[in-house]
Amino acid sequence: MISSLMRILAIETSCDETAVALLEINGALEKPDIKILGNSLLSQIQLHEKYGGVYPNLAKREHEKNLPILLEQTLEEAGEDKESPNIDCIAVTAGPGLEPALWVGITVAETLGKKWNKPVIPVNHMAGHMFSVLYGTYEALVMPALALLVSGGHTELVYVKDFGDYEIIGKTRDDAVGEAFDKTARMLGLPYPGGPQISRLAQLSRERKEEDEIKLPRPMIHSKDLDFSFSGLKTAVLYKIKSENRSDSDSEFKEDMARAFEDAAIEVLVEKTRRALEKLDNIKTLIVAGGVAANLHLSQEIKKIVNEFPDISLRMPTKLLTTDNAIMIGIAAFIKIGIGSEILKNQIAIKARGNLSISPVQGL
Ligand code: KG4
Ligand code: ZN
Repeated sequence: MISSLMRILAIETSCDETAVALLEINGALEKPDIKILGNSLLSQIQLHEKYGGVYPNLAKREHEKNLPILLEQTLEEAGEDKESPNIDCIAVTAGPGLEPALWVGITVAETLGKKWNKPVIPVNHMAGHMFSVLYGTYEALVMPALALLVSGGHTELVYVKDFGDYEIIGKTRDDAVGEAFDKTARMLGLPYPGGPQISRLAQLSRERKEEDEIKLPRPMIHSKDLDFSFSGLKTAVLYKIKSENRSDSDSEFKEDMARAFEDAAIEVLVEKTRRALEKLDNIKTLIVAGGVAANLHLSQEIKKIVNEFPDISLRMPTKLLTTDNAIMIGIAAFIKIGIGSEILKNQIAIKARGNLSISPVQGL
């Protein structure tokens, strides 16, 4: 499938990152030529850090304050006229995410769409993560694919039969894996977001000794389905912290605990992914994307299983596109236009949908 050259202004405000990008994309859906003409991102991490998580209304206020500034910056970087830029459409995240935060991006996108008389394309944030792997490579993304999407709000295995044809074949029944990283970090007195912190400490433990004596359960690893559960793992961490009765300032204990958690969480993700690859039997590409894809231990372990499947190639996003950003939203919009998504044919007012899930029915 080929789509013609498109200049897309993309906006992302689903969680704690305000982001805007201007892209020029051209060519085949499986191998598009993506040029980033402008890109601005402002993280609210420092504001949310003291609460140990993201506060929706605080996130909304920050998006409202920062989005106009980032829009200006992006257009300026691209050398575009701020009053009437040369774009074909505006892409905006419509869900999933925090609804008050999503509304900020949607309202701005629709206002600009009217002002400039350009269509506004609602994009699923998880489709953004999935197609973030199209950037930075000249290799075609061969279908069918399996996508392991791991972020702060989601943990799911998606059978990607083709562009526009998705089926969720496994998902978490409670916490997302990123959320479990964040909560475990909080229990260990580490700042938000916890993923990079846990990962750093776990590495120190591995450098110090070969074996970690702390053993944690691998929830649902033997279940027949492809679902996950991470809330029990988090409780197990809490129980260990209490029962070991080690002081908060015991840095070696913290490192070992972080490692035990990371080992358990990643082992379950990797094992279920292997099971899905075996079950589907026809997969050509394994996509691993979302914020937790930044985890070094995950990428190392995933590479090991990919070696067991010689016909499967692994695609992970470049660092710039791993955690939330607007570039991936622009790419997902390009795919949506390319497959001629029904939802684009009649421009109706876009709604923020906090629980939007990845499916062709819901319009990607
Ligand atoms: O995709 P993302 O930026 O936002 C959501 O859509 O949720 O993912 C954020 C999540 C957070 O939970 C964060 O702790 C986690 O990704 N994360 C990591 C790492 N870097 C970010 N988790 C594990 N290891 C990392 N290196
Ligand atoms: Zn995300």
